[in-house]
Amino acid sequence: MACARFISLKTSGMVRAFSTLMSPPSKAVFYDNHGPPDTVTKIIELPPVEIKANDVCVKMLASPINPSDINRIEGVYPVRPPLPAVGGYEGVGEVHSVGEAVQGLSPGDLVMASPPSPGAWQTHVVRDKSFWHKFDRRTPVEYAATVTINPLTALRMVEDFVDLKSGDAIVQNGATSMVGQCVIQLAKLRGIHTINIIRDRSGSDEAKEKLTKLGADQVYTESQLNVKNVKSLLDNVPEPALGLNCVGGNAASLVLKFLRQGGTMVTYGGMSKKPITVSTSSFIFKELSLKGFWLQKWISSGNTEASREMVDYLLGLIREGKLKYDIELTPFSEFHAALDKALGKHGSQPKQVIKF
Ligand SMILES: NC(=O)c1ccc[n+]([C@@H]2O[C@H](COP(=O)([O-])OP(=O)(O)OC[C@H]3O[C@@H](n4cnc5c(N)ncnc54)[C@H](OP(=O)(O)O)[C@@H]3O)[C@@H](O)[C@H]2O)c1
Repeated sequence: MACARFISLKTSGMVRAFSTLMSPPSKAVFYDNHGPPDTVTKIIELPPVEIKANDVCVKMLASPINPSDINRIEGVYPVRPPLPAVGGYEGVGEVHSVGEAVQGLSPGDLVMASPPSPGAWQTHVVRDKSFWHKFDRRTPVEYAATVTINPLTALRMVEDFVDLKSGDAIVQNGATSMVGQCVIQLAKLRGIHTINIIRDRSGSDEAKEKLTKLGADQVYTESQLNVKNVKSLLDNVPEPALGLNCVGGNAASLVLKFLRQGGTMVTYGGMSKKPITVSTSSFIFKELSLKGFWLQKWISSGNTEASREMVDYLLGLIREGKLKYDIELTPFSEFHAALDKALGKHGSQPKQVIKF
């Protein structure tokens, strides 16, 4: 470990050598202003930092570019790190060196940021040992790097809002998103049907095929649902009790149209940036409930330990081949090319994951 710096101190006539453990310098995606992520971010080198007694220095291996990372840099996410800041929020790495009081973690262990927090897009991260969660090294790192934010959100939303039984159904928009892909598979594992709405765009036939292979019962583009009674399309799938919305606008109205009497729509994202419009009759006669979910709030409400257990459960499903999603790995040196893809500059793309 090339992390030691020696300081000599003169104490009562004797020269004693103390070593201060330092991290290597870190290359980081840095921004000092909010704004369009492709213009306000740059890669810089940060100086070594001290590794204190309870700190762990981790050489990062992989970290995704999630929509919320983009919103944080834009300055529109409700909770943001103070400026200047390093981008990224979740990720995994290998322990590089540990402070003198650290037990249970050693160089070479694979760990993830848990709970996720700002600053994942850099080559070396130094944080207190309590921040790191060790995971099974048989897990592909790109999955471990992406398991906390999206798959865990999918799991909580399938489990927490409506008491669903095998044979019930969920309707969701944004079904091609990582959350959407996970909802399909986690529901399928419990025998729950999914009705999936995707946007009209080039490659929508291939997207439908992919989602069907993951276990989707039905997949529609928004324009296919431009019919008088969407429920006439349900065939053998029951009217869904739970709807999941990460798009807003027309795509949210379509979710509401599918819901059964007394159903619940959970909103967890707003990809179209359009508001949700709900008819008066939806409340009075259909008795629909509208709720929201925010993983960050859920984890910080005393659920850090529970989130780690759930992440381990999800990683188990991944290792068993029961949970998969589309990922594209890009080397850190090409960060801005991956960022452009995540910003939608080249049309629909798989989740971009940076490999350090
Ligand atoms: N509330 C929470 O705690 C929480 C946690 C996790 C994620 N989220 C939210 O969940 C959503 C999905 O996240 P993710 O990481 O799973 O997504 P992702 O894998 O990065 O995929 C992006 C999704 O957004 C769709 N999309 C992009 N631009 C759109 C537009 N202008 N109109 C409609 N759809 C658009 C894409 O559709 P195409 O495939 O057609 O391009 C794709 O389905 C995001 O809004 C994210 O912020 C919220």
